[in-house]
Amino acid sequence: MAEAVEGRTRLVAAPSGTAGPGTRDRDTPFYNPAMRRNRDLSLLLLRHAVAHRGRELDVADALCGAGARSLRFAHEVDGPLVVHANDGDPKAVEAVQAAARANDIPADRLRVRHGNAFTFLSERRFDVVDIDPFGSPAPFLDAAVRATRHDGFVCLTATDTAALCGTYPRVARRRYAAHHAMHATPWRAEVGLRVLAVNAVAAAGRHDREARPVWSVFGGHWMRVVLRVRDGRSAADRALREVGHAAVVDGWPQFVSAPPEATRWAGPLWTGALHDADVLEGMAEAVDDAVDARTIRLLDVLRQEADAPAWWVEPRLLRDWFGVDAPRRQRFVDALRGAGFAAAPTHLDPAGVRTDAPRDALHEVLSTAPS
Ligand SMILES: C[S@@+](CC[C@H](N)C(=O)[O-])C[C@H]1O[C@@H](n2cnc3c(N)ncnc32)[C@H](O)[C@@H]1O
Repeated sequence: MAEAVEGRTRLVAAPSGTAGPGTRDRDTPFYNPAMRRNRDLSLLLLRHAVAHRGRELDVADALCGAGARSLRFAHEVDGPLVVHANDGDPKAVEAVQAAARANDIPADRLRVRHGNAFTFLSERRFDVVDIDPFGSPAPFLDAAVRATRHDGFVCLTATDTAALCGTYPRVARRRYAAHHAMHATPWRAEVGLRVLAVNAVAAAGRHDREARPVWSVFGGHWMRVVLRVRDGRSAADRALREVGHAAVVDGWPQFVSAPPEATRWAGPLWTGALHDADVLEGMAEAVDDAVDARTIRLLDVLRQEADAPAWWVEPRLLRDWFGVDAPRRQRFVDALRGAGFAAAPTHLDPAGVRTDAPRDALHEVLSTAPS
C-alpha cells in the first residue's frame, strides 16, 4: 500500500495527481497534499480548543477520506481529544485503520467508522464537526450544525470555488441560494466566503442556534469557513440581523439591506466579521515547527483582518481611480493608519488593503505616502 507523510503523521494513501495513465491502482486511497494548509489551520484550531476547553473534546471528521485530517488531529494534538472518523468508502476506512496502526494511535483516541455521513451525524453531538466533501458542503450543513454541541465549531471546506466566486451564477443560486454578479470585481472571493458563511448561519437559525465565523480562508482552489455554534433563539436572531447583500456603487462595494437595482450585486451574504481575533491568536500560540512560514504569515494577516473593515482596495483600482501607483502594501497600511484610518492587509489579495478611508482621503494619503 502507498505511504506518505504529512506533518508528523504517516498516511496510508497516495498523493492525488500521482496516478498517471496505466498506473492507477484502484484500491489505493488518495489524499490531496494541496490541502495541507487547510489541515494545518484546522490542527491549530483544535490545539487552541483543547487548551481552552478544560475537558475532553469530541471531534467528528464526517467525510474523512484516507484520514489525513483525523490521523493528524489524533496524532499531533496533545491533550484530551477523541477523533471520530467516518467515510462511506470502505477502502478509505481501511486506509485510516492501517495508518492508525502505523502511527500507534490508540483505538480510544481515533474511532474509525464506515457509514453514511448523514447517519453518523444524526446519532450524537460533537464539539467540532468537520465537513470536507468533494465540492460543496451545502448538502451537509443542517446535519453538521445540528450535530455540533453548544459552543462548538463547525468547520466547512468547499472546493466549488468557481460557483462561490460567481463564475457560475446559476450554480451559486442552486447550491447556496445566492445571487452572485460580482465575479468581474476584485471582491469575488470575499463574496464567496460570505455566501458560504451565511448558509451556515441560516442552517443554525433553523435549529434556533447562532453560528458566527471564527475564521474564513480562501486558498485558491478551496474555501474554509469555521463557525462557532451556540444555542439560543435571541443569539440566532442577532446573527441573522447580520445577513444582507452587497452591491458595487460608484466602483466600490458596500453592504445593503435589500437587493438593489445595481447590476453588480450579490447576496444574501454574511455582513458581519469573517474572523475572531481571539481564536486566531490562540491558533498562533499553538504553532510548532511542523507549520510552514507561509501559514504563520497567513495567520498574522488573518489576525489583522479580524478587526478591519470589509472590502479592500488594490493597486489596479487605485490606478483606475487616481492614475497613480500604490506604494508597497505595508507602507500604504502604515500611511493610512498614520492618517487615522483603519487599515490592514487582506489574505485575499497580496496587494490588497482593507480600509475605511473614503476615496478623497485615500487620494490624499496616496499622494503623500512614500512609495
Ligand atoms: C474530499 S474527500 C475527504 C478528504 C479528507 N477530509 C482529507 O482531508 O483528506 C471526501 C470524502 O467524502 C466521502 N463521502 C462523500 N459523501 C459521503 C457520504 N454521504 N457519507 C460518507 N462519506 C461520504 C468520500 O468517500 C470521500 O472519501
